[in-house]
Amino acid sequence: MVIVRAAKLKKSYGPLLALDSISFEVGRGKIFGLLGPNGAGKTTAVKILTTLVRPDGGTAEVAGADVLRSPEKVRSLIGYVPQELTVDPYLTAREHLRYYADLYHLPGAVRETRTPELLSLLGLEGHEDRRARYFSGGMKKKLDLACGFIHQPPLMVLDEPSLGLDVQVRHDVWRYIEKLRDQGTTVLLCTNYMDEAERLCDEVAIIDRGRIAAMGSPAALRSDLKRDVVSVEVSAANDRHAEKLAALERAVAALEMVRETVKDGTQLKIYVERNEIALPQILNSAAALSVPIHAIGYSRPGLDEVFLHHTGHSFAERNEHHG
Ligand SMILES: Nc1ncnc2c1ncn2[C@@H]1O[C@H](COP(=O)(O)OP(=O)(O)OP(=O)(O)O)[C@@H](O)[C@H]1O
Ligand SMILES: [Mg+2]
Repeated sequence: MVIVRAAKLKKSYGPLLALDSISFEVGRGKIFGLLGPNGAGKTTAVKILTTLVRPDGGTAEVAGADVLRSPEKVRSLIGYVPQELTVDPYLTAREHLRYYADLYHLPGAVRETRTPELLSLLGLEGHEDRRARYFSGGMKKKLDLACGFIHQPPLMVLDEPSLGLDVQVRHDVWRYIEKLRDQGTTVLLCTNYMDEAERLCDEVAIIDRGRIAAMGSPAALRSDLKRDVVSVEVSAANDRHAEKLAALERAVAALEMVRETVKDGTQLKIYVERNEIALPQILNSAAALSVPIHAIGYSRPGLDEVFLHHTGHSFAERNEHHG
């Protein structure tokens, strides 16, 4: 069942094309990430879905409700934690949660159990009765998330949920988001972080300059590049190691799975289509040639390489242009 459906969304700000025909769908109970550098259009896309921005073209629906025709219905289905901090400096942490709980007509008993749970999850215990004006930036973000999590709507929209969080809380937040997903909540999130997309998202849309460059599960996006690396290191203690490594290079270069080999001292890097298939073949070749293996490793390219492959420029470079 599809919960979010965005079709050919377009949005311009003056001469700037922020969204250039974006389409994606999010299935119920999935964590879907919009991953892209600064200025890619992620926030614009989620603002259209949360009815805060009107698209110039295209359609967007949440659980079948159109954002332009039924904005109230759409809003009732969504919990939204925006990218910018929204806390009120004069309210305490506890007052914030009470305010949001009332806003969503949460029963008092539910509010009273969830409030300490969320404040503890986000590492705000001990600060319940302090006003948010005395909070650090990270603490304000934590409070924003706690407010967003107080009611449990069918769709949570989180714009950069871990921006400004320390490592421990970041991991706690990820686990909490997974727990929501496992209980059936659909999660749409925007992120600038490869590791967040990789760790958390069932599916990601890589977005750059208002367009979707690639879409799929992080694992599929990485393996589709067909640039896995197997690296073999020979023992320098063996006086025939250089000769053996050269022989191994010749042997593996003839294997069908192997695309390229690079020798560097005692190490041979073998670029292959799929390391799970290539690895046993490489090991067989090494055994047949009695190669003195010291270490062997394999890895798959990261989402940064996926981004580079599909857009022609690096993620970090794009971030700098906008930073
Ligand atoms: N209200 C606005 N008025 C004018 N331009 C805007 C407005 N909102 C966004 N933009 C522009 O639209 C483009 C996309 O912005 P958006 O906020 O959607 O990017 P983003 O992917 O969320 O980036 P970030 O990672 O920095 O949050 C940017 O070039 C931005 O300057
Ligand atoms: Mg943004």
